Amino acid sequence: MMHYNKSRVLITGGMGFIGSRLARRLVHLGAKVTIVDNLLPLHGSNPFNIQDFESAVSINICDVREQQAMNRFIKKNDFLFNLAAQTSHTGSMTDPTTDMAINVSAQLGLLESCRKWNPRIRVVYASTRQVYGKPQYLPVDENHPIQPTDINGIHKATSESYYALYHTIYGLHTCVLRLTNTYGPGMRIQDAQQCFLGLWFRLLMEQKPIPIFGDGEQRRDFNYVEDCVDALLLAGSRDKANGKVYNLGSREVISLNRLAATMVKLSGRGSYECIPFPDERKQIDIGDYYGDFSRISRELKWQPKVTLDAGLTKTMAYYQRHFRHYLMRHSVPDDRVTEL
Ligand SMILES: NC(=O)c1ccc[n+]([C@@H]2O[C@H](COP(=O)([O-])OP(=O)(O)OC[C@H]3O[C@@H](n4cnc5c(N)ncnc54)[C@H](O)[C@@H]3O)[C@@H](O)[C@H]2O)c1
Repeated sequence: MMHYNKSRVLITGGMGFIGSRLARRLVHLGAKVTIVDNLLPLHGSNPFNIQDFESAVSINICDVREQQAMNRFIKKNDFLFNLAAQTSHTGSMTDPTTDMAINVSAQLGLLESCRKWNPRIRVVYASTRQVYGKPQYLPVDENHPIQPTDINGIHKATSESYYALYHTIYGLHTCVLRLTNTYGPGMRIQDAQQCFLGLWFRLLMEQKPIPIFGDGEQRRDFNYVEDCVDALLLAGSRDKANGKVYNLGSREVISLNRLAATMVKLSGRGSYECIPFPDERKQIDIGDYYGDFSRISRELKWQPKVTLDAGLTKTMAYYQRHFRHYLMRHSVPDDRVTEL
């Protein structure tokens, strides 16, 4: 098993929601953290996510599509947590080419870079439950057919295959985590671009009704972000994770109606209402989904620890304090932009 203390860790997408929480944890574990992020608009990047520890990390405003620059970063690190992505499902349908450039071509470029310049680096790739498409059975385990319902799912699944292949053929240490809906402090709440739950938090704060698409009886599982960070750290450090694919998930499966009712109850404010699906959502909706995460529990001893009630309460408290930082666009200091 590898440890993070004094290790050099590269996080792509490190100004985003999950990447920034991972960076914070790694700094506490004694790692030397380098963040690469291009602050793509409409995504989860937000300099406020790292504001309280930014002096402890190296921040580089750079695009993972910039192969030369990425070569330089990859050469210098022991771990790569690859979280930079085009994450919007509807966005992947309106602009499939950009989704392919970031979620496929850039991923292949990163793997090539590891193969050529640093084959000992340990790589964790954040994939998504979206690769499964509409579940054929529940809970969905890792052997479920891969039948994505949108372009983003197709591209994430394609990249997963590259990570597996580079492990099998070149012996790279790669591990793929298929994340489910992740929520917590630092997520994008401006709109539903990242996850509908982000927008729900905002509407709750603004005391506006939460809209639920369809009848609201679709069931989902959710992970609190710190549980997701636990899984990423295990995936990077345990030898057993080498070459593996793991689902994340939760024991608490909940309908969207119950989720909204819980949020209203816990916050003591707001309301919710069911509305018809917008067309662009209906076409790619997957209905009920919840994952079987017994493989990662068995092999890496990962368990989600934060209950939904506790996670929602912490998240709402965070946005009550920091709401305004998540409603504006931020400017980037010039000295942080990586020149080629
Ligand atoms: N949040 C979830 O519920 C969830 C669910 C499934 C999978 N995931 C996966 O986890 C990863 C992290 O997601 P997140 O929720 O933190 O999203 P996020 O949008 O908050 O973070 C992604 C970050 O990547 C950056 N980025 C995007 N394209 C880039 C590029 N070309 N070069 C450099 N940086 C770039 C963005 O600016 C952003 O800061 C993604 O790969 C996503 O697909 C997340």
